[in-house]
Amino acid sequence: MNNKKFRALTASALSAALLCTAAANPIFAVPAVNSGSLSTAYAADSDIVFSTDFEDGDASKFSKRGDSDTSVIKVIEDDKAPSGSKVMSITGRDQSWNGPSLALEGVLEPNVKYDISVKVKAAWYNTVCISLQHTPGGSDQPQYTNLVKGVSQGDYVELTASFAYGAEEKDVSLYIETWGDANDLCVDDFTIKLSPNNMDSKAPSLKDVYGDMFKFGTATTVSEIAPKSTQDLIRKHFNSLTAGNELKPENVLDRAACLALAEDGDDTNPQVTLETAKPILEFARKYKISMRGHVLVWHQQTPMWFFKENYDPDGEWVSKEKMLKRMENYIKNVFAAIEKDYSDIDFYAWDVVNECFTDYGKPREAGFPAEANNYEASPWVKIFGDNSFIKPAFEFAKKYAPKDCKLYYNDFNEYMQKSDAIVELTKEINADGHYIDGIGMQSHLNVTNNGEPDPFPSVGMYRQALEKFSKTGLDIQVTELDATVNNKKFELQAKYYSDIMDALVDYKDYISAVVVWGTTDDQSWRADRDPLLFNKDYSVKPCFESIVDGIEYTTSADPTEPETESKTASESSSYATGDLLYGDANCDNQINIADAVLVMQVATNPDKYGEGKTSLSIKKLGKQQADVNKDGKVDNSDALIIQKYKLGLIDELPYHEK
Ligand code: GLA
Repeated sequence: MNNKKFRALTASALSAALLCTAAANPIFAVPAVNSGSLSTAYAADSDIVFSTDFEDGDASKFSKRGDSDTSVIKVIEDDKAPSGSKVMSITGRDQSWNGPSLALEGVLEPNVKYDISVKVKAAWYNTVCISLQHTPGGSDQPQYTNLVKGVSQGDYVELTASFAYGAEEKDVSLYIETWGDANDLCVDDFTIKLSPNNMDSKAPSLKDVYGDMFKFGTATTVSEIAPKSTQDLIRKHFNSLTAGNELKPENVLDRAACLALAEDGDDTNPQVTLETAKPILEFARKYKISMRGHVLVWHQQTPMWFFKENYDPDGEWVSKEKMLKRMENYIKNVFAAIEKDYSDIDFYAWDVVNECFTDYGKPREAGFPAEANNYEASPWVKIFGDNSFIKPAFEFAKKYAPKDCKLYYNDFNEYMQKSDAIVELTKEINADGHYIDGIGMQSHLNVTNNGEPDPFPSVGMYRQALEKFSKTGLDIQVTELDATVNNKKFELQAKYYSDIMDALVDYKDYISAVVVWGTTDDQSWRADRDPLLFNKDYSVKPCFESIVDGIEYTTSADPTEPETESKTASESSSYATGDLLYGDANCDNQINIADAVLVMQVATNPDKYGEGKTSLSIKKLGKQQADVNKDGKVDNSDALIIQKYKLGLIDELPYHEK
């Protein structure tokens, strides 16, 4: 980052927040299913919460998926077993969704991120998949999330993924299925571990670093936000939140209620529900994080039936007049639903219309997005004949949105002809009034192309678009920033991110928000090319460091914590110093039983665990933090105090015996 900015300061409540994190840490409560006592399990591998290689002949924790599932599950000998000689075999499958399922309630904890790894063999070339079944609170409709898939060609393929589920979700299970044929399966080495959390509590907060320029936001989905660790990351760094999918028409339209109203003779008043978005909305409310609404009118993720007579996906396309009524009522009902249940959330922006132009600045082809048209066709164009649906969408949004909510046209690849088309569009929309407030630049960027440095767009192109949009007099928001890179070329990515942020800082007077599209790399829609600022374990990436480097920033109070005194941070590239987190011997920003275990290991086996001895050694900072009775030594009395603290017998650390 070349731009150095200097700004005023407010407060931080770092140690209080860290202790909250520690108090809610799940490790203490997680039963280690296939192991002996808690302490043995943690001493052996503190992060494993469920593991079986089926060598004990027991597959009883796995069951078939309901009465209509024909699977037969048993343990067999397999000379190709990846470990030992036994595996779980599944025969008699009738449907691709048939297979072994592991119920997670009572085994895992909600709001915790886990890593699963399992080896699966199909009898011949076949796509095998591990999926999560979960039923959101307030619903009786299970949802099925494919976590990861791989191809078995008669051999064992290892599937690994991260997942979590929310406290309000019911009937949560992991299951193995196939895509395509329902052939026989063998499964081995099924392990679930706590996903590591290496969030750097001393890293500057992005919302502080850029605090007097623009909001710094992120997008999240319900499953992404399920782990408390992800919630902590969002609370630390972001002051704007976008629902990744949950406020799109496919999740907001309530088909049953639409059909019921249509039965009564009104098929122009689409009914809506915010039930799917609830966990995200509740989170934003609880932690007072502003929200960007995304999105009202789009060709994708909007069901076919919305555009058809009688809400029948196979019916006739409705007329332009009827669709205008549906559009107006949909927009009206969305704003009314938010006003009714979430009026205390600061919805400061909404994307009214998304992605209406081709890269050549022309309207999309008419039709429904499908594989055959590369998901490019637009049902809006099918009904209106062109892009004439955009202006009324903004007129309706202006009519029904709260006065202080700004309205945006949002698109990707807004360079060259497309950027000109967008500028023209904004002029048309505002020709006889003020309906559109700003332009959303999605900013899905690429650092490399086939492994070679070949940024698209170039920083120069990106600056040209900023220049063009800044001249419209409208606000600009960067709404979905991510920058892919191949082969983990993170230094290249860091330079590019830094250059893009420099451009945004140069145009800060025209920009009110910069939003990255997701939290950690593993959760991104482009996860295979690591496009985000944080690693899967929440640690910062070089691109994070490059965009905070050299900026003088302000630490702000968590709006949900009491105000404390302001303090000045100087050059922040070396990160502001914070208080010690007493009890956190292993420096993972949490205080839990693993810290007590490490302290005991240091005391009993200093040659292995003492500072500077081996890769397993306690770190210098950890040693300071482990000395919870401040007697200058790390020994079993510190381990005991940490355990008492976890049990609530001691209120705070450090602790002095009376
Ligand atoms: C577009 C949409 C977003 C999201 C991304 C892909 O950019 O605007 O809502 O769907 O694609 O995840």
